[in-house]
Amino acid sequence: MIGFLRSGFFWASLLSLAACMEQSPETTADGIFTAAQAQRGEGLFDQHCARCHSIEEFTGRAFNTIWAGTPAAALYLRIANTMPMDQPGSLGTEQSTALMAHILASNGMPTGEKPLAGDLEWLSSILIAQR
Ligand code: HEC
Repeated sequence: MIGFLRSGFFWASLLSLAACMEQSPETTADGIFTAAQAQRGEGLFDQHCARCHSIEEFTGRAFNTIWAGTPAAALYLRIANTMPMDQPGSLGTEQSTALMAHILASNGMPTGEKPLAGDLEWLSSILIAQR
């Protein structure tokens, strides 16, 4: 467990070093959502997701195994197009991005100045960082 956390931290440090050298964000560790957005997402999660999921399913090792290294667009589309499982497509962009912000914040990703937008082309260029 300690080794795992250490390697996650090491990886994240490398990613933020890369972020300092580049101007535009490259990963979810570069502050791609706001604190207010993540907070709104937490409320939405309770309302729309908690009857089937706990946030623990989308944090730590479980999250890293599925999502680390994939484009942020993949997670966005998974939420926006397939969830809630019994009402797929019912969320819309605002809610889907807020839910994603909540999940990223729950994984220790830093907040930033600009809210996460549902721009698929941009989301495809952002990689989900390991935490
Ligand atoms: C009615 C039950 C139900 C609700 C409500 C629901 N889900 Fe799911 N969700 C599932 C099931 C079942 C799976 C796994 C099945 C699959 O892989 O298709 C899943 C899979 C997922 C996955 C991919 C697997 C993973 O661990 O990353 C994500 C992300 C996800 N749900 C997010 C959400 C979010 C966000 C909400 C709230 C908007 C939500 N779900 C609401 C049933 C639900």
